[in-house]
Amino acid sequence: MDLKDISLYVDDRPAEGVFRVHRDVYADPELFELEQEYIFGRTWNFLALESQLRKANDFVTAQIGRTPVLVTRDAQRRLGAFANVCRHKGAVVCRAEAGNAKYHVCPYHGWAYDASGKNVDIKDRKTGGYPPAFDAEDHDLLPLARVASYKGLVFGSLSAEVPPLDEFLGDMRFFLDLMMEQGPEGMEYIPGRAVYTYRGNWKLQLDNGLDPYHLTSTHLSYIDIQSRRRAGLGNVEARQFDWAMRASKEGGSFGFPHGHSVYWLDQPEPEKRPIFPAIPEIRARLSDRHAEWMLKARNTEIFPNMQIADAITLMLRTFHPVAVDRTEMRSYCLAPVGEAPELRAWRLRQFEDFFNPGGMATPDDTIVYSECQSGLAAQPISFLQGHSRGIAAAKQGGNDVSQALGIRPTVSVKGGFTLFNEVALHAPYREWVRLMQAGVSGGKAYP
Ligand code: FES
Ligand code: FE2
Repeated sequence: MDLKDISLYVDDRPAEGVFRVHRDVYADPELFELEQEYIFGRTWNFLALESQLRKANDFVTAQIGRTPVLVTRDAQRRLGAFANVCRHKGAVVCRAEAGNAKYHVCPYHGWAYDASGKNVDIKDRKTGGYPPAFDAEDHDLLPLARVASYKGLVFGSLSAEVPPLDEFLGDMRFFLDLMMEQGPEGMEYIPGRAVYTYRGNWKLQLDNGLDPYHLTSTHLSYIDIQSRRRAGLGNVEARQFDWAMRASKEGGSFGFPHGHSVYWLDQPEPEKRPIFPAIPEIRARLSDRHAEWMLKARNTEIFPNMQIADAITLMLRTFHPVAVDRTEMRSYCLAPVGEAPELRAWRLRQFEDFFNPGGMATPDDTIVYSECQSGLAAQPISFLQGHSRGIAAAKQGGNDVSQALGIRPTVSVKGGFTLFNEVALHAPYREWVRLMQAGVSGGKAYP
């Protein structure tokens, strides 16, 4: 394939009903290198929750592509984000994941930076024989080109040439509101997180997060266990859902500009959602429409590498590209600040049961990702056939559901649960092509 013509990797011919992704997109190390520069290096990336950065000197470490990032609230309570890389010899300065620190001292030679990224000490500077040219240099941590937040979600960009965050998120904001406005005092991570790696490309997680088609095969054992529970066997306290009831429900998806996408499904058992008791409060504080949509199952992709799933409890995950065939996952359980202890417990039991790496779904998924990666290295396959379901049911632009919500997607699908459409993946792959093509042809990411 020709790395100068990225459109060859995604055979996208809407008028003919064709959407095919080439296996090299997941397996070619050269494309992986270009992604670092032209995707992760030139777009907004999710970094942290503002609720992790409430107090002066709170900090969180994150990652944009291969760049380690330090996100801070400085002494003046300003939000900042910096390359977490020492100006001396390039060591990662802050090793911790999160905490509160007035100063960040590099573990290598002890240079120190404050929470605004300013270099406050060069160890033994006086005896160092430094020339005036060195003294004239700036020694502070390098700030990211952009940092901004939306409804408590903090994003950063290595490039200044990005649209304002609100514009980047566009109408996807309605679906972010449904996650981030569940509590009157905002949202927070339940303490603890899961970090794990899988042997596969980062876009395997992108695909899977918008893929209900795999549920009834990959997670068969999970579905079996739930029927046993309904018969009174096993962990009957887990408050799991009756999956058979989903089959008759309606759902759909929307794709948005800049690669974002959402999958939704009417929830057959809303009373099993931990926010169910809060619905009257949500209705009064926001609207009937918010209350109705918060009870639907929703899986969202914020391009490139953040997903929030509000299906079985509420989880936020990021997936970081480590190598073409290696990805680091981080997953968190999100909850309203100030949630009642019994609802918090209910939420946690659901999270453990399904999403946790020790739960009953995630191990199934990570195994199939590595099996996909092995298969993608096989020679006879060129284009995959995994992005075609639902094309015949898709509508360019909006539909009656989006009109009622007042949002303008680029593509919409509506249908029964078992449509399991794969059209939800078109927006992310179109954006992947657009950004990669802009990069290799020397153009701007956001002209
Ligand atoms: Fe940080 Fe030397 S690399 S002080
Ligand atoms: Fe899964």
